[in-house]
Amino acid sequence: MVFSRFTLTTALLIACAVGGLRAQLFFVDQPERDTNVLLYQLSARVEKLEKDAVEAAKAPVSFAAALVTTTEWTHLGPFNTDTTLIFKRVITNLGNGYDANTGIFTAPVRGLYFILLNANVGSSGSMNAAVIKNGENMFAVYDTKGTVSGVSNGMPLVLEAGDKLWVTLWANKSVFDQSRLTTFSGFLIKSM
Ligand SMILES: *[C@@H]1O[C@H](CO)[C@@H](O)[C@H](O)[C@H]1NC(C)=O
Repeated sequence: MVFSRFTLTTALLIACAVGGLRAQLFFVDQPERDTNVLLYQLSARVEKLEKDAVEAAKAPVSFAAALVTTTEWTHLGPFNTDTTLIFKRVITNLGNGYDANTGIFTAPVRGLYFILLNANVGSSGSMNAAVIKNGENMFAVYDTKGTVSGVSNGMPLVLEAGDKLWVTLWANKSVFDQSRLTTFSGFLIKSM
């Protein structure tokens, strides 16, 4: 009698325990699996973002181009309209931001850049050219005729990814180069 009561009690306890465990597994198992999937997805995304950030920070962005490719003394202008100067002799183009067909530098990443324009007037006329960002005049150089007359201006600029920079020679102005004197250049100081 005692033995059978003990057996019954034990059986009941085991049944309850298994039932409870089953119930617990049933309710907990599904959300747990979802959480694990979510965690896996999140950690994969974080890993990718970290990798992208490291790559972006490592990738140097730098461009430098001179106005003409020939070493012959070459005057461009005066033109009767404002003219985008297309710097043809590409010397540096890390990150491929500069396009020698259009004269436009497109910032590949958001960051602080240093941009420099150096220009020469040559023996006639006057020179007035500006670095333009998306249509806005950021800074300029001006000089009047002289055989070795040159001028430069440069400054740090914060550029968004996709911002465009180019150099405009204003109407009736002229510029001079022999592949090394008149240059447009810049580099990424720090991506942000
Ligand atoms: C350029 O020169 C022409 C002829 O002298 C003049 O009519 C015109 O107003 C000038 N344009 C500018 C922007 O100075």
